[in-house]
Order: sequence, then structure tokens, then C-alpha cells
Amino acid sequence: MSELTNTIKLNNGVEMPRLGFGVFQVDDLKLCEQAVSDALATGYRLIDTAATYNNEAAVGAAIRKSGIDRKEIFVTSKAFIHQMGYERTKAAFNESLEKLGLDYIDLYLVHMPFGDYYGSWRAMTEFYKEGKVRALGVSNFLPDRILDFCLNRDIEVKPALNQIEIHPFYQRPDEIKLLQEQGIVPQAWAPFAEGMNGMFTNHVLHGIAQKYGKSVAQVILRWNLQRGVCVIPKSVHQNRMAENFAVWDFALSAEDMQAIAALDLKRPQMVDTLKPSEVHRLYDYVNNPVLTSL
Ligand SMILES: NC(=O)c1ccc[n+]([C@@H]2O[C@H](COP(=O)([O-])OP(=O)(O)OC[C@H]3O[C@@H](n4cnc5c(N)ncnc54)[C@H](OP(=O)(O)O)[C@@H]3O)[C@@H](O)[C@H]2O)c1
Repeated sequence: MSELTNTIKLNNGVEMPRLGFGVFQVDDLKLCEQAVSDALATGYRLIDTAATYNNEAAVGAAIRKSGIDRKEIFVTSKAFIHQMGYERTKAAFNESLEKLGLDYIDLYLVHMPFGDYYGSWRAMTEFYKEGKVRALGVSNFLPDRILDFCLNRDIEVKPALNQIEIHPFYQRPDEIKLLQEQGIVPQAWAPFAEGMNGMFTNHVLHGIAQKYGKSVAQVILRWNLQRGVCVIPKSVHQNRMAENFAVWDFALSAEDMQAIAALDLKRPQMVDTLKPSEVHRLYDYVNNPVLTSL
């Protein structure tokens, strides 16, 4: 596993960096632009944003100012529940393109498996065929939703990726296997669970980190990469960006992978879409779209 490549080939042949940079909750546009500039300078070539993050304009500005060839940068954005349905997603996609100030988006995701995402997918498929988006995917799809979606004959283009909550406290091995069997890349959002439950001070992770002369964050990212899971950690601090990016020069042993496997709490720590209260919260956002913990 020490020969992990930096990129992974999606099911349509498009190459995507395995390690990217997320900008959720960086809604101060100046700070976001600075963070993305710093991330690009550090070496990140995948930026993960979303319409609901309210920072696509800052992401686009940083990309344009970076001087890096657009083709070298992989940009992901997402349509949220209030943007589901054929017409709404058409408008949402164009709005994202405009805010980003880009000609195309690399990967466009259905953010949540709610609302008329079949209608959305038809619109997304049209953009895909027009070359305005290089790959299509989903996010927060549970096994039944993803399988139904993949097997449905109305779906012309199979999702290339499912972006879901994955970290040492919620490891989802069976779901990852299912996604891989379906040719769908699993990508971990909140790879550190935003530091919740003492993630960064966990004694098992700390012990492993010490053994390799690495940080807990680096061990977590490396663990996911070795399981075939792509990662998009977020930080607004350049030293942490660099730390999170330096995960290619070591490999965790099978024994240490097992020790991390034992940390699994087997339930979501951030978003549990099976809970009615959570579905209410998501739809509350539709009625009052202000930034919350989505
Ligand atoms: N599809 C979805 O529904 C969904 C949901 C959530 C997130 N996401 C995506 O996934 C990305 C990552 O998730 P996330 O931002 O929620 O959380 P995360 O990456 O798990 O954690 C980010 C937190 O960890 C801190 N941190 C980062 N690197 C660190 C390090 N090396 N040492 C110590 N602390 C460190 C950051 O602090 P500082 O910034 O202060 O350094 C921040 O508070 C998001 O930005 C977004 O792009 C998608």
C-alpha cells in the first residue's frame, strides 16, 4: 500500500486527486479565498465546495489568481435539497458556474438524497453531455439509496462517487465495499469528525502516530487512503494544510489498520439522515437557507 497513487480513476476515466481540500464553514469570503490560495500553494489540487457553503465565489477567485492551469485543478460543487428537480438544478448548476467564474466544474454532486434528485440527475446528465461537468456523483446516499439509484434504468450516467461521513469513529466498511463493487469511489467528508469525541487526542491514534513520527491527523488520512477512501480535510491554517497533505511517505501496518478498525462506533457522529429530526432540520434549511451544520 505504500505505492498509493495521488490520483484515482473515476468510472468514466477522469482522474481525481485522492486527497483534496474542503471549505465547509469557511463562509467569510476573504478567509476562504486565502485558505484556498494557501491550499493550492501547498499542493492541493482538489477543492470541495457546495452551493450551501456560500463561498463558491471565493473558491473561484483563488483558483483564477493562483496562475495554476485550470486543467490541473479539480473542483467539486453540489446542489442542495432546495435545488433538487430538473429546472431547479439547471438553474443551480449555472449559478454555481457563475459564482465560481469557471467554464466547467469537474465533479457535481447531489448533496442529499432528498427531493426530486432523479429530475436533478437528468439536468446534470445534460450538462455532463455538454462537457460543462466532467463527472457526476452523489453525497450522503445510504446503501439502499445508492443501489436503487445505480440499478434504476432511468439513470443514464452512473454516479462516479459518493461523498459520505467517514472517520475512525464511523468507518462504514460494508458500505465502502458496496460502493467499490459498484465502481463508485467513496470519499470521506469530515475525515476528522471535525475533532469531535476527542479525535485528535485519542490515545490509540496518538500511539500509532508516535510510532511513525506522524501526527494523529496524518494517521487518520493515511488510514482512509489505504482503505481506498478519498479524503477532503478542511483547515484554515497553512501549517495544518501542509501537515494534512504530507501523508504519502509512510504506510500503516496491517496491525495498526486493525487497531484503528477497533475504534469504530458504527454510527454517524455528524449527520444521521435516518433520524426524522435530522430530516426536519434539513428541510428547515430549505425554508430558511442560512448556514448551519450541513
Ligand atoms: N457532503 C456533505 O454533506 C459534507 C458534510 C460536511 C463536510 N463536507 C466536506 O468535507 C470537508 C471536511 O469536513 P469538515 O470541514 O466538516 O471537517 P474535518 O475536515 O473533519 O475537520 C475540520 C476541523 O479540523 C481542524 N483541523 C484540520 N486539520 C487539523 C490538524 N492537522 N490538526 C488539528 N486540527 C485540524 C480544523 O480546524 P482549522 O480550520 O481551525 O485548522 C477544523 O476545525 C468539508 O470542508 C466539506 O468540503 C461535506
